Amino acid sequence: MSASGHTKLLVTDLAATVQQVPSRYVRPISDRPNSSDVRPSNTYSFSVIDLHALDGPSRPDVIYQIRRACERDGFFLVKNHGVPEEMINGVMRITREFFRLPESERLKSYSDDPTKKTRLSTSFNVKTEKVANWRDFLRLHCYPLHLYVDEWPSNPPSFRKEVAEYCTTMRQLTLKLLEAISESLGLPKDSIANSIGSHGQHMALNYYPPCPQPDLTYGLPCHTDPNLITLLLQDQVPGLQVHRDGAWVALNPIPNTFIINIGDQMQVLSNDRYKSVLHRAVVNNSTERISIPTFYCPSPEAMIGPAKELIHDEHRPAFRNFTYSEYYQTFWSGELDTRRCLDLFRI
Ligand code: OGA
Ligand code: NI
Repeated sequence: MSASGHTKLLVTDLAATVQQVPSRYVRPISDRPNSSDVRPSNTYSFSVIDLHALDGPSRPDVIYQIRRACERDGFFLVKNHGVPEEMINGVMRITREFFRLPESERLKSYSDDPTKKTRLSTSFNVKTEKVANWRDFLRLHCYPLHLYVDEWPSNPPSFRKEVAEYCTTMRQLTLKLLEAISESLGLPKDSIANSIGSHGQHMALNYYPPCPQPDLTYGLPCHTDPNLITLLLQDQVPGLQVHRDGAWVALNPIPNTFIINIGDQMQVLSNDRYKSVLHRAVVNNSTERISIPTFYCPSPEAMIGPAKELIHDEHRPAFRNFTYSEYYQTFWSGELDTRRCLDLFRI
């Protein structure tokens, strides 16, 4: 057993030693990636929204595009977002360097406790899940930054500085998007930002090593994100898929764009108008893949429910009120793909 690498905590180290996927990663036949059924990226036109235009006379147009995308797809892409290319390349490079550190160095950050605010882990929740996923991830809480940055890895040496700058820039971009999304729902600009308590921001550095049998397992199975909105950066390796009109569609990388995913809290705030998008990540047998989601969220004590302005006689509240902390605990205590957390909060 030991020589086969089955005792490795991280799949990055396991992948280097196996020719076959160990049984704990193998999905039942009815639940496999089925790559022949996945539609190529170019079968659908996605909304690629030019954020530069938000500051000019065509703002109403852009707001309309955002509304359409959130109602129809639950996600959109953004370009001209103001995040410098060097910063994007920098956070990708530092992530790659982190996952290439020696196993013993990486394991200093390891934990299987989902309540820890800085931790390296694997799969989704190794304590509760029946089938594991071909992914390692470093999860960091990053707002307010000063509360967490001193727990972050200090190796590579520029990790804290570079990742902190990235987080701060991503927060600015998020706030701009929240204004636009509020407007797109017909709400005052500051409405969403004002209804999520003192705000929270987490990020994951996802690392998907090459997989000898990618048809048997997932990087991440089908899920929606439990937070408010996710700004996903991916490298040049395909792997992300979104669910659309009953089928899976590959969402292949476009350099210098972010994928903006509507999360469960936005679906609630919008009283079910905007859809939290179902998505998943598959792996491949030749190339490692990195993705870096920024998860923007309410603060734990924030009371979340449908916006009052969006409740009418014909639009009864679709969800009960809850604290984000209750939601988040429910999400992490379940399995990623077996039930939709959101449905547990429906009226
Ligand atoms: C996630 C996620 C997708 C990807 O981390 O929640 O959906 O492409 N990641 O890695
Ligand atoms: Ni996700």
